[in-house]
Amino acid sequence: MSSEVVFSTEGQERLAAILKRYPYKRAAILPVLHLAQEEFSYISPAVEEYVAQLLDLTPAQVHEVVTFYSMFRSRPLGKYHIECCTNLSCFLRGGLPLVKFLEEKLGIRVGEVTPDQQFSLATVECLCDCGSAPVVRINNRYYGNLSPQKLDALLEELKQQ
Ligand code: FES
Repeated sequence: MSSEVVFSTEGQERLAAILKRYPYKRAAILPVLHLAQEEFSYISPAVEEYVAQLLDLTPAQVHEVVTFYSMFRSRPLGKYHIECCTNLSCFLRGGLPLVKFLEEKLGIRVGEVTPDQQFSLATVECLCDCGSAPVVRINNRYYGNLSPQKLDALLEELKQQ
């Protein structure tokens, strides 16, 4: 394991607080992976190994969880990771045109990162906010009832931050 893969002091305090909430360590895998992703930006094999060691699991067990849930990143993504829902409700209410708009606006295809590392783009299945379709999630924040114009304004806001 890389010696660089160690939680910060604050991360270690947060880890201790998380572990207190569970009867045994392995039950804390989801919040610990969220913490790891915050700390290291994505869950590399070295981070999987670190989390496995912390929770008395094997790296393979951690890898299974990381690759099952779409909210965990296994590779570096943009500062703003944009996930477009293309499932039924969003599909019927303009989800695919939003994807096409984003590909053209950002100059990347789904699965890619902009050269300046600011944005990455993915399509996802139902984000469980169908009543607000079409829906986009950016770094775990949801935006609904979108049009290309609204999304364009949102991207401009993000670029200013
Ligand atoms: S289909 Fe897009 S949020 Fe459910």
